[in-house]
Amino acid sequence: MEKPARMILPERDAAGTLRQTAVSHIGFAVPDVEATADFYGRVLGLLVQHELPGGGLQLGWGTGHHVLDLVKGDPALRHYGFEVRDADGVEGISKRLTAAGHTVEPLSDIFVDGAVGSPAGLAVSDPDGTTVHFHSTVERQGENAADPGRRPIKFQHTTLGSADVARMVAFFVDVVGFRISDQLEDGRFAWLRSNRDHHTLAIVNVGRSGVLDHYSYDLAEWEDFKTWCDRLTDVGVDVAWGPGRHGPGNNLFVFFDDPAGTHVELSAEMEKFHDDRVTYVPRQWRPAPSSVNLWGGQLPSWRKTSEEN
Ligand SMILES: [Fe+2]
Repeated sequence: MEKPARMILPERDAAGTLRQTAVSHIGFAVPDVEATADFYGRVLGLLVQHELPGGGLQLGWGTGHHVLDLVKGDPALRHYGFEVRDADGVEGISKRLTAAGHTVEPLSDIFVDGAVGSPAGLAVSDPDGTTVHFHSTVERQGENAADPGRRPIKFQHTTLGSADVARMVAFFVDVVGFRISDQLEDGRFAWLRSNRDHHTLAIVNVGRSGVLDHYSYDLAEWEDFKTWCDRLTDVGVDVAWGPGRHGPGNNLFVFFDDPAGTHVELSAEMEKFHDDRVTYVPRQWRPAPSSVNLWGGQLPSWRKTSEEN
């Protein structure tokens, strides 16, 4: 196979502005809202927190902010959100987006009155046309805790599929304020951070734009993977990939699919970055299966790399 061209994704301007920003929620259209909510209740312990106008549901844990928005429709990514805990973070993002020519809308349609307070927030279209939310701190009582075999600790990252990784990375790094932790040498996969975690967002070339590649929840430790793989099997959910360990991020992983075919990851041990103490240079991994899965390079049918092992 011909060696793919090397492509170094640049960091400019606002890169690294965000240091305390995490994923917040994600919204899907699914053919059967009730069945999908039932699945996430049985498998991940997510409970219905609010009914949305038009029959949609918001799911979450405890009394905290919601994790999933489900509305009826053909399977699609509707929006994805971030909680910005950086001082003046939402304001800063708004100014940078506006200066770069993006249309910023106030965030109003995703919060149910009284559920999470009224965080300041904005909605904007990412370069692929998907709505992304940035909002200020919300209450998260009931989250950041695990019942080790039955519910994860928290929603941890979103990985978007795109036909133009460089354009999406330029938006999130140069305008919004993320930083590149790792990329594949061919520029077809980039992992971006906005807090101490190696990535809260990743972008992978899947040949089309505006789609979700997968999203991921944290487990506490390796021991939990055994419990989860056994329980997924018990409830009739196939383990679709792994267990394995990613090179970029060094995190342990296992994947399964929800009823709409969305790839869901469970992960632990993600590498931490300490930008307040050390200067990092984005790293470039060989675009080979054994980079994506250190343990032998086994890949699922939906993941390809441009080099072989
Ligand atoms: Fe992931």
